[in-house]
Amino acid sequence: MTRRALDPLDSLRLLNGGPVVLVTTRWRDQTDAMPAIWTTPLSRNPPLVGVVVNPSRHTHDMVRFSEEFALNFPAGDLTDHTQYFGTVSGAHVNKIELGKLATFRASKVEAPLIENCVAWVECSLEDALRIGDHTLFVGRVLVVQADKEAFDETWLLKDPEYRPLHYLGVDRYSTLGDVLTAKLRTTDEGTIDLGETKEEREQREEAEALERERREREGEDEDEREQEES
Ligand SMILES: Cc1cc2nc3c(=O)[nH]c(=O)nc-3n(C[C@H](O)[C@H](O)[C@H](O)COP(=O)(O)O)c2cc1C
Repeated sequence: MTRRALDPLDSLRLLNGGPVVLVTTRWRDQTDAMPAIWTTPLSRNPPLVGVVVNPSRHTHDMVRFSEEFALNFPAGDLTDHTQYFGTVSGAHVNKIELGKLATFRASKVEAPLIENCVAWVECSLEDALRIGDHTLFVGRVLVVQADKEAFDETWLLKDPEYRPLHYLGVDRYSTLGDVLTAKLRTTDEGTIDLGETKEEREQREEAEALERERREREGEDEDEREQEES
């Protein structure tokens, strides 16, 4: 393994990977859709979710004035649309119309919902907090819908067409692959059971003991050197 130091801003991209949402809004006779990756669950009771939006985005004003928004979860077939929606501003064009995407009415908010997506969350605006150079819009979840093929308690990931889209950064996207189901087993002593045979465990414990001894020896050598230098 080769470690290398990165820029503080790279920490933001290291955190990328959650599903992309298309934030849709309606204010008076205007609609808009903007991809967002800076999103987060915030509370279970009441159910609150957060979307972090730069004040330069048209969506910022649309959310502020309409006091509501919807999250639409695209799958891989909307990769190009997602990138396009993230490149132009709804201040100048009607992106949903230009993208030729069908929409349907939401139950509790005026924002349109995008037909080709695999899940939808309708929110009213609970709070808006200025954080650094962005605004955290806190949405109270009013209605949630998902396609049966896509989500049942968790994302299912069975059919590639129904896997949510993830954003890596720049123009790179991905969809999740296999589902790994964790099998949590503990030993009688309450530590994690790694599923080893007795022999494997003895070998591992022996190797760990040798490693501990080596570290202790190195520590002693270090102490001696320091004493000699002082
Ligand atoms: C995949 C993707 C994710 C993005 N995530 C965010 C985000 O979380 N917050 C944000 O303020 N801008 C984000 N952007 C940038 C906005 O989507 C972009 O500036 C967009 O054109 C704003 O549209 P609007 O002016 O119509 O609101 C993202 C862009 C892309 C392509």
